[in-house]
Amino acid sequence: MYIDREKAGKVFEDFLASYDLNNKDIRMKAVHTRKVAENCDAIAEAEGLDRDLAWLLGLVHDIGRFPQLAQFDTFWDLASLDHAEAGAEMLFGSRKMIGLFTEQEEFYPLIRDAVRWHSAYRLPVEMDQEHRIYADLLRDADKLDIFRVFGDRPPHEIYRCSEEEFLAGKISEGVMTAIRGLSSVSHQLKKSPVDRYAGILSLIFELRFAKSGKMAAEQGYYQRLFTPSFTDPDTVESIREIRNLAESFTGTIENN
Ligand SMILES: [Fe+2]
Repeated sequence: MYIDREKAGKVFEDFLASYDLNNKDIRMKAVHTRKVAENCDAIAEAEGLDRDLAWLLGLVHDIGRFPQLAQFDTFWDLASLDHAEAGAEMLFGSRKMIGLFTEQEEFYPLIRDAVRWHSAYRLPVEMDQEHRIYADLLRDADKLDIFRVFGDRPPHEIYRCSEEEFLAGKISEGVMTAIRGLSSVSHQLKKSPVDRYAGILSLIFELRFAKSGKMAAEQGYYQRLFTPSFTDPDTVESIREIRNLAESFTGTIENN
């Protein structure tokens, strides 16, 4: 596919202009969008995939976040709306915003699938093989930048609890069981702020492309997530275990 990136970038900027750019969460998602598009491009280049298509997926993937923030002032889908579904609807529903970014309609079904499923716990089993490749690529690119975003703010601020409470927290057994199976953690298993933090750490096990593992190691954002000094000895031990698993996992996918 061919994309005029400058033109598509301008469409995105014009879209953003209708939102409150004084809101730091809006600005954060605008930066996130750009970074995910760059990550998509880098993964596609390394894996011999369509770079323009990948870049475009990054650019449009979180378009549903902006109305979500404007209406509900939260990123929590369960308490507001499914931002991925909302994004797919904005792009492909009656507003057909996708036409502003590209007129190459043959790519619409793939773009729609990638946006719709980018934040799901798992991709639907029946997804078309090519759609799956690009959906996986977008999910990898998104996770790499989630590591950056979460490392930028103190965890207790993200999870809206006191620092003491966060650092004294324990990781639930179900969360550790999922992680030992080299899996991310489903929402139902997360019972505390530290569980949610461990859930972010567990996203590393969902990376699918060798380049993504390499990027996680090189970018250094993932390693920065291990800064908190927990006060509970069991938690310290669990975090050490997660770190070891993550290091050997990224080594494994890098050597694919
Ligand atoms: Fe998203």
